[in-house]
Amino acid sequence: MPARRRILDEIAAAGGWISFARYMQLALHEPGIGYYASGARKFGAAGDFVTAPELGSLFGRTLARQLAGFERIVELGAGTGALADLLTRELNCEYWVLETSAELRERQRKRLGGRVRHIDRLPERLRGAVIANEVVDAMPVHLVHWSAHGILERGVDGALAWSDRPAIGELRAVAERIAVAAPYVSEVGLLARAWMRTLAQSLERGAIFVIDYGFPAREYYHPQRASGTLMCHYQHRAHADPFARPGEEDITAHVDFSALADAARAGGAELLGYTSQAQFLVNCGITDVLAQANAENALHYAPIAAEAQKLLSPAEMGELFKVLAVGTADCAPLIGFRDGDRSASL
Ligand SMILES: C[S@@+](CC[C@H](N)C(=O)[O-])C[C@H]1O[C@@H](n2cnc3c(N)ncnc32)[C@H](O)[C@@H]1O
Repeated sequence: MPARRRILDEIAAAGGWISFARYMQLALHEPGIGYYASGARKFGAAGDFVTAPELGSLFGRTLARQLAGFERIVELGAGTGALADLLTRELNCEYWVLETSAELRERQRKRLGGRVRHIDRLPERLRGAVIANEVVDAMPVHLVHWSAHGILERGVDGALAWSDRPAIGELRAVAERIAVAAPYVSEVGLLARAWMRTLAQSLERGAIFVIDYGFPAREYYHPQRASGTLMCHYQHRAHADPFARPGEEDITAHVDFSALADAARAGGAELLGYTSQAQFLVNCGITDVLAQANAENALHYAPIAAEAQKLLSPAEMGELFKVLAVGTADCAPLIGFRDGDRSASL
């Protein structure tokens, strides 16, 4: 268990406590030991979870309709390269990938060859469409415990167990602005906010599309969600114990889309749209894409219909997953938000 050993060593060296964000960074992204940084199967039927681009081509072909016309696409966190594989065939544009995992970068290189350019960091000035599908939910989050004794930060001790300390600094300032009734535990995505702000600042012209599961702040910090949204995925089973298999399973938190929209505005971007994945895909013309499939050939059509069901059904990805777009005003209006834009809910 190299990840467990390495994390315990770091906790000991830090005096017996690290923040949960640091724990999540090590367990997911640390080179050599992290879940995303190692050779685990992760994606697909044989892995731990399936993302929209891994289901088939419907998601990518529909998204392509929104992305047509941008001269460059920058995909953040490209996973197995499934979406890049499809979009580079559908669209005639430059395609850049920023991927933090060396192992996944290598898999993407093998699959995509010279069709994409890998970049190590965001350029200071960026033009084009940026896409991040199921990337923000994998970003480390801080945990806050609003208790009868004040606002505490929930971290990890040397027994890999929860341990609370008074929250300080930026975390405390953000937590103080969130109105919940104690006792209440939830996540605050400080790193996602900083990431969005930097991304928005670097965007000279274009749009950033964040696609992920989550809610506006009012629903995120709802009284009924008093133990937060943290979840682990191992072999298609979800559970709530992030200490069970560090480095061997996915740990995620839902995305607070209000916080991302605020961070984008603070970075100088405008809010271009926010809606459910189902509404976005319908607006982009998923029914036209479906109609191109041959419904008379049941063998061919059945998996495509099942894919559409998974992407659109409110009981599957259609409602829990959202699409947020921010960027420069000259990109508006975007077809994906033509009907049912929920920007006012953020
Ligand atoms: C759940 S996977 C999703 C992969 C792909 N977008 C998909 O939909 O199949 C998360 C991906 O984001 C990458 N990642 C996580 N944090 C990142 C960051 N800050 N910048 C770029 N990539 C990141 C991971 O290595 C992985 O490729």
